[in-house]
Amino acid sequence: MKEAANLVLSRIGLRAPKIALVLGSGLGSLADEVEDAVRIAYADIPGFPKSAVTGHSGELIAGTLSGRDVIVLSGRVHYYEHGDAAAMRPALEMLHRLGVTTLLLTNAAGSLKPDMPPGSVMMITDHINFSGTNPLFGEPTDARFVGLTEAYDAGLRAALDKAAAETGTPLHKGVYMWFSGPSFETPAEIRMAMVLGADAVGMSTVPEVILARFLGLRVAACSVITNLAAGMTGQELSHQETKEMAPLGGKRLVAILKAAIGGLDP
Ligand code: HPA
Repeated sequence: MKEAANLVLSRIGLRAPKIALVLGSGLGSLADEVEDAVRIAYADIPGFPKSAVTGHSGELIAGTLSGRDVIVLSGRVHYYEHGDAAAMRPALEMLHRLGVTTLLLTNAAGSLKPDMPPGSVMMITDHINFSGTNPLFGEPTDARFVGLTEAYDAGLRAALDKAAAETGTPLHKGVYMWFSGPSFETPAEIRMAMVLGADAVGMSTVPEVILARFLGLRVAACSVITNLAAGMTGQELSHQETKEMAPLGGKRLVAILKAAIGGLDP
């Protein structure tokens, strides 16, 4: 990861961002808001993951957002692409090496709550790892026994709450359940998820949260709701719908994130 960090450092100049964001499906618009942007394709960064999911551009953008130095990872690699839950480890290790201390994750998700319809934004307060895997499988050190009691940082959650209130943007809160994908859930699985205490379901983010806590980063995560989950409407789900609907909640999420980042320590 030293090589990757050195390359990114040489391209972004004297900036020392402490804040990084990972943008999920259809949420790339935040990347366009970065000022003084330096863009580096993942393909040009040694060891960086290659994602082939449409709606994920695969680009690192360094610049400023709301007056704060940031690194935006536009596009992520998912467990379902190669069966590797640790696919984002090199990217997160590089952020850590660059001095990033705060990680804001975003994703698209299906809602289990009729009163949290498509277009809503949900701040993740906790998660359920339903994938049966873990990005720290194979990690030999005792650091693998990561505590996740406070996985989603209380200070960052308060900052997001405050930003939502200031911008007049509704912000739901709930538990995100990680399914491996890439097939969507069945109606029976969604009924199970409801019983188990989930509010939203998705195919990402949880491995990144675990890796980030392993690295000692402060983490917060938000979902934009693109659909009601399987069986809750008469309609079949599709990735096309995810991509089309994400910008709706995406606009709200961008407003919240920009306000929150402006209030964080530089
Ligand atoms: N399930 C899983 N992942 C998703 C969904 C969903 O309903 N919507 C967007 N990502």
